[in-house]
Amino acid sequence: MNIEIRNETEKDFREVEELTREAFWNLYFPGCNEHYLVHQMRNHPDFIKELDLVAEYNGKIVGNIMYTKAWLIDEAGQELEILSFGPLSVLPEYQRRGVGSALVDHTKIAAQKMGIKCIVIYGDPNNYCKHGFKSGKDLNISDMNGEYPHAMLALALDEQALAGQPWKFKYSDVCNINDADAEEFDKGFSPKEKGYKYSQDIFSIAIRSYLK
Ligand SMILES: CC(C)(COP(=O)(O)OP(=O)(O)OC[C@H]1O[C@@H](n2cnc3c(N)ncnc32)[C@H](O)[C@@H]1OP(=O)(O)O)[C@@H](O)C(=O)NCCC(=O)NCCS
Repeated sequence: MNIEIRNETEKDFREVEELTREAFWNLYFPGCNEHYLVHQMRNHPDFIKELDLVAEYNGKIVGNIMYTKAWLIDEAGQELEILSFGPLSVLPEYQRRGVGSALVDHTKIAAQKMGIKCIVIYGDPNNYCKHGFKSGKDLNISDMNGEYPHAMLALALDEQALAGQPWKFKYSDVCNINDADAEEFDKGFSPKEKGYKYSQDIFSIAIRSYLK
């Protein structure tokens, strides 16, 4: 599949929100809020505009990835600015054709060129270990509570810079979206039926799972 990867522009905003909604709808819970997160992220100071990319196929946007600043905090309280990404979305009918991988690979290289030492995300290991991500625990990175969530994954772009000490991961506050606001935002989209998918149970188990 011959896709073009380019920066998102303002005229793409609605199309990207629609595609995000399609990708996440009913995946983690009935409905979704990731399209609202996308909408909020673009105006947030932690948003990394250069890494806001779309994958285009025959003039149609089929995928998108967005990054924000995040931080690793050492035991002395010193912050190292790193990156986090998400949402990462591919239109359901274009999934499993390499689009998601192309967006991750492209931005990994771009982040490395920007001198970023590490990318930490919350995601499904099935999607990201193939791109070199490891459990935070394997890189001595915990969440702010000192715990190691199953879904907290880290990619060291500069292993030397991380080695030898424990870190805590702090994500951008843009991720703390208000559910009622997201619900209100969704009313601006075409009606779509909320329902159950077994992926919701997989997600529910995953977010309560921690490494010892
Ligand atoms: C997760 C997501 C972004 C992955 O995007 P994608 O474009 O489907 O990913 P890829 O096609 O690169 O890889 C998916 C699988 O397709 C396979 N694949 C890639 N190109 C292929 C091709 N041409 N033919 C057949 N299979 C192919 C990959 O090997 C991979 O298989 P694996 O998971 O068994 O290793 C996408 O499925 C999505 O938007 N999901 C809903 C939202 C979501 O979950 N986002 C991530 C939050 S953690």
